[in-house]
Amino acid sequence: MHTVLFVDDEPNILKTIQRILRNERMNVITASNAENALHILEQNDVHVVVSDQDMPGMSGVEFLSRVRDHHPATVRMMLTGFTAMNIAVEAVNQGEIFRLITKPWNDEELKVVLHQAFDHFDLKHEIRRLNQLTRSQNFSLQDMNKTLEAKVRERTRQLDEKNRELRTAYIQTIRALAEAIDAKDAYTRGHSERVAVYASRIAREMKLETPLIERVYFAGLLHDVGKIGIPDAIIAKPERLTDEEYEEIKRHPEIGAKILEPVEFLRQIVPCVRHHHEWFDGSDRGYPERLVSHSIPLPSRIILVADTAEAMTSDRPYRKGLPLHRVTTELKKFSGSQFDPVVVDAFLGLLDKEGENFLSKNQKFDIYEFIEG
Ligand SMILES: [Fe+2]
Ligand SMILES: [Fe+2]
Repeated sequence: MHTVLFVDDEPNILKTIQRILRNERMNVITASNAENALHILEQNDVHVVVSDQDMPGMSGVEFLSRVRDHHPATVRMMLTGFTAMNIAVEAVNQGEIFRLITKPWNDEELKVVLHQAFDHFDLKHEIRRLNQLTRSQNFSLQDMNKTLEAKVRERTRQLDEKNRELRTAYIQTIRALAEAIDAKDAYTRGHSERVAVYASRIAREMKLETPLIERVYFAGLLHDVGKIGIPDAIIAKPERLTDEEYEEIKRHPEIGAKILEPVEFLRQIVPCVRHHHEWFDGSDRGYPERLVSHSIPLPSRIILVADTAEAMTSDRPYRKGLPLHRVTTELKKFSGSQFDPVVVDAFLGLLDKEGENFLSKNQKFDIYEFIEG
């Protein structure tokens, strides 16, 4: 139930009001002066205050402005005679009070205005409650956001770690696969790893993006994986190959691509493997598709240079490894026909800087150390 406090220095008025409101659903409290009324407000939950203007001691306007300061939720009204009308109207205009009731009043009107005041109080109360609710929900949302962010960060970190572990395992698997290929022939042991190292170092010299350098490395490791499908007798044959045998060998890029195709994480490597024996000029000495220049994947063009350098400098059953200058002569001679001139230039640049060290047979490759260091 709502409570209304009437403040008036005339006891008759207070008595009359109590009588009029006796049967209304509300608590009616009265006070004969402002000080007393302020005291009552401290002690009770008062929803509406109705004050006279002309009172001994504190005036109605002053009293109501104190009520506004100390009990802002309480709805303030003024009940006054015509003598104090100017002051009362000003108080209304300044938003100090909700309504003005003039003496003498109409009883029914007074009841209606009081109920409106209670409604007004309830409405303001509800708005405050909702505002508070919104604020506290905002706070808890912010908290939730913070917790969520921390969780996401932690999960991301865990995922990164897992990813790294997976990639390490992945690199080891690919290396093992590459070693298995090379093991088919004692003379090509380590070939794939070295081609991968040379190729990715050329890629870095060409200032390619890290993911592309990585792709060059993996494609290098796997470029000859198709040799698994070629008979050992041909692969390891110490004498010169017959034309038929050579045709057989030429199938290895396509066999390799077929082997790798079903593996989701090797998808981008597949074309690099398929085209690592194309000629830059698109001539029929390249295979399998005689692609021309930039239609050949860049990693394939890089691998071809690395592959040639590695093969020439390695021992073969019928000859010792050739000296580096033979490699540079060969690369220059076929730059633009077999090889991409840009790749050849990058490779020659590396050799200028590093000489024989570049071909060190012992270099093992850790892609992350290599890229980050
Ligand atoms: Fe090959
Ligand atoms: Fe090769």
